[in-house]
Amino acid sequence: MTVEFSIPTKIIAGSDSIFRLPYELELRGVKKPIVLTDEGIVSAGIFALVKQAFDEYKFKLPLVFSDIPPETSVNSVKEAYRLFISENCDAIIALGGGSVIDTAKALRMMVAEGTDDLFVLSGADNLRSGGVFFVAIPTTAGTGSEVSGVAVIFDRSSGSKIAFASEFLVPNMAVLEPELTVSLPKKLTAASGMDALSHAIEAYIGIQSNEMSKALSFRAVKLIFDNLIGAIENGKDKRVRFNMLVASTMAGMAFSNSMVGIVHSLAHAAGAVLHIPHGVAVSIFLLSGLKENLDRAKGDFSELLNAVRCDFLGNESDRAEEFLNIVRDFLREVRRLSNLPSGLLELGYRPEHEKKIVELALTDGSSVFSRVELTEDVARRMIEVSL
Ligand SMILES: [Fe+2]
Repeated sequence: MTVEFSIPTKIIAGSDSIFRLPYELELRGVKKPIVLTDEGIVSAGIFALVKQAFDEYKFKLPLVFSDIPPETSVNSVKEAYRLFISENCDAIIALGGGSVIDTAKALRMMVAEGTDDLFVLSGADNLRSGGVFFVAIPTTAGTGSEVSGVAVIFDRSSGSKIAFASEFLVPNMAVLEPELTVSLPKKLTAASGMDALSHAIEAYIGIQSNEMSKALSFRAVKLIFDNLIGAIENGKDKRVRFNMLVASTMAGMAFSNSMVGIVHSLAHAAGAVLHIPHGVAVSIFLLSGLKENLDRAKGDFSELLNAVRCDFLGNESDRAEEFLNIVRDFLREVRRLSNLPSGLLELGYRPEHEKKIVELALTDGSSVFSRVELTEDVARRMIEVSL
């Protein structure tokens, strides 16, 4: 069996790590970077800290493109590309959540390939080079996009999402600055944290799992259990924010190499049909998806129990069930503290949505890497218990 494993991203993490950014750019001869971000980040004062870092280093303030919607689109990327070319930029900095980082990845593809036609680049492994220096600065702790080689862009004209996967999409550098996440609202903190947890667990139990990704997943699970409640209850605590950023990035490294599974298949499908944010959709299907894996992933769940509880004795089956009980109780507490929805009905689900969600889930790429096969029955059951 051949195992592939790659983590090409340099990570700079910790309080005030953002102040290292201008130095790192200068080191690489970058003269005119463009910062991709969104209006929410600018108005929340998050960009101000980045600006301060550039000012203090006396690095010319980068060009800023902030016209990126919560669900990024082909038009946003094209606009950013036009600006990048007309201003002769030489590096890309993404400051934001998944949508902003995906926009930056798409922009980098266009620059590298010299085309503004994203459709010709869609799919897997269609790039031949990475192009300009690319830094991702996440402002949420969940997507893992700062270390992953995937991006999804919404095409309004066809109403569909275009997906890209390539090792050349992985950012060259990620800056994990806790100060940038302290103003993240409780619900978003909870949703993104559950996304990170599902990355870690699904990567651990999937068919592409290996010892290297398992080490990352295991520690990420522990960090999330130890810190997510604190990040929701006291978002200003930079220590727990930092731990969540690190956990999310480690889970991102794990799933970039070992992929996700049926929780994500259902979450992608329900997200598209009901127009719900990714982290919320993942939190809805997390428990039902893990339960479907219980028979085949007993050994893995039993191992993961050690990340969250060391004093439980019992055989493998008991330990696996105990792990799922702990995930269930954790999810319940996260929901209670953050008002994260607890079921599909709260999100506008109606029985007529079932057919489409099942259909989309069965064709979703994530299920390819699942230990348990995603059949129509499995998908329906997951919806049924997630209402
Ligand atoms: Fe995810």
